[in-house]
Amino acid sequence: MSNVVILGAQWGDEGKGKITDYLAKKADYVVRYQGGDNAGHTVEIDNQQYKLHLIPSGILNEGKPCIIGNGVVVNPESLVREIKYLKDLNISVDNLILSDRAHIIFPYHVEIDRLEEEDRGEDRIGTTIKGIGPCYRDKVERSGLRMCDFSNQEAFEKKLRYNIGKKNDLITKYYGSQPLDENEMVTNYMSYMRQIWQYVADINVIMREAVAEGKKILFEGAQGTLLDIDYGTYPYVTSSHPTTGGIAVGAGISPYQLEKALGVVKAYTTRVGMGPFVTELNDATGEWIREKGFEYGTTTGRARRCGWLDMVMLKYSAQINGLSSIALTKLDTLSGLDSLKICVAYRLDGEEIDYFPASLEVLGRCEPVYIEMPGWQLEDVLKAENYEELPENAKAYVEKIESLLGVPADIVSVGPKRSETFMRKELF
Ligand code: GDP
Ligand code: IMO
Ligand code: MG
Repeated sequence: MSNVVILGAQWGDEGKGKITDYLAKKADYVVRYQGGDNAGHTVEIDNQQYKLHLIPSGILNEGKPCIIGNGVVVNPESLVREIKYLKDLNISVDNLILSDRAHIIFPYHVEIDRLEEEDRGEDRIGTTIKGIGPCYRDKVERSGLRMCDFSNQEAFEKKLRYNIGKKNDLITKYYGSQPLDENEMVTNYMSYMRQIWQYVADINVIMREAVAEGKKILFEGAQGTLLDIDYGTYPYVTSSHPTTGGIAVGAGISPYQLEKALGVVKAYTTRVGMGPFVTELNDATGEWIREKGFEYGTTTGRARRCGWLDMVMLKYSAQINGLSSIALTKLDTLSGLDSLKICVAYRLDGEEIDYFPASLEVLGRCEPVYIEMPGWQLEDVLKAENYEELPENAKAYVEKIESLLGVPADIVSVGPKRSETFMRKELF
C-alpha cells in the first residue's frame, strides 16, 4: 500500500495541481475528496496551460483513473463544460469516475451564494459564488440531491422541482430578488445529468478493491488548511474539510489506510477573499510579489493578497494534517529580493505566542515576529538542474523552513512546468 495525500497547507493556490500532476504518473488512482468548482488547479505541460476545477489533475496523465469522491459537491453544468474543455484539447476523460454519493450543485445554490454575499455587505466572505456553502448546507440539512438519485429520473425531477420552489421562496420573499425559471433549470439539469451519468459509480467498491490490491492512491486536496470549516479562519473559510481529516469521509477510504501527507506550501503566503492575514504586505513588496508570481485567482481572476511566509500558521497546519513532508513551490518567484522575511511567532499584547488563535478578534491583534534571510537571483535559479545546484541562499531559505517546521521539503518547485520540479526524496 502506498497512499499519499496532497493538500494545501495555507489558504489555497499553493500549486496543488502542479504537484498532483507531477506525482500522478506513478499513481494508480487520483482522487478529489472535497470542495467543488471553487477550486482552480493549474498544470503546465510543454507550454500548454490546463485549468481544472472539478476533475483531478491526474487526468493529464493519459489513461489515469481519476475519481471525484462523495465529499465533492458537483455542479453538473461545470462538469459537462470541463469534460468538453479537456476533450477539445485531446485529453481523454474515459477513466473519470464520479461518486454516486456526491451532492449536486444547482443554480439556486449559486444564486443564494450571491445573494448572501450581497447581504453580508462589508462582512462578506469573498466566496467564489459557485454555490459551495449553500450546497453543503443542504447536504447537512438533509435536503440535497445526490448523483445516485438520478437513477430514478422521475423522482429526481420531482424532488428538484420541490427544492426549486422552496429556494425561490427564499430568493423572492427574503431577498426580494427575481425567482429562477423552474422549467428551464429542470430541462437543462436533466440534460447535464444524462451527459455525466456514464461516469457515475460506487467509489467505495473501487476503493475497496484498490486497497486490497495494494494500488497507489493519490488524494488531491482543494482549497487549503486555513480555509477548513473547523480549522480555518472561520467564518472566512470554505464549507468543507480540505485537511487530511476530510479524506476518510470524502473519498471512501479508512483513515488507517492513509500513509503520507504532503503539504503543498507556497514559498510566501497568499489569500484570495476576505479574512485575517497576519503577514500580509500592503506595500510595494506585496505588489511586487503579486506581479512576479502572477497572483491572480484561477477561478475568479481576483488579485490575491500577498505576504511573507508564516511559520505559526504552517506549524498549525503540519499538526492538524500530520504532514510527513512538504512540497515548497514558487521559490523562483522570490528571486531578486535583497532579503526575505519569515514569520516565526506572533506578538499578542506584548507577549510572543506560537499557536494560531481561534478568535479572529485575537488574531487581528497579532503582530508578526520576523527573522530575515538574504535573497538570491533568478538567473542562478534558472541555471539549476537539481536542488543542489540552486543558489546557496535559496537552499538556506528552504532548509530554514524545514528546521523551523520539523518537516522535510521533499519537493522543491521552481517554475510552473513539470520539468521545473526537484524531487529530493521519492514519495512512492
Ligand atoms: P492550486 O489551486 O493549489 O492548484 O494552485 P493554482 O493553480 O491556483 O495556483 C498556482 C499557480 O502557480 C499556477 O498558475 C501554477 O501554474 C503556478 N505554479 C505552480 N508551481 C510554481 C512554481 O514553482 N513557480 C512558479 N513560478 N509558478 C508555479
Ligand atoms: P484551490 O483549490 C483559494 C476561498 C474563497 C473565499 C473562501 C470561501 O484553487 O486552492 P467558497 O466559494 O469556497 O465558499 O469561498 O474560500 N477559496 C479559495 N481560495 N483557492 C481555492 O481553491 C479556493 N476555493 C475557495 O476565495 O475566501
Ligand atoms: Mg487554485
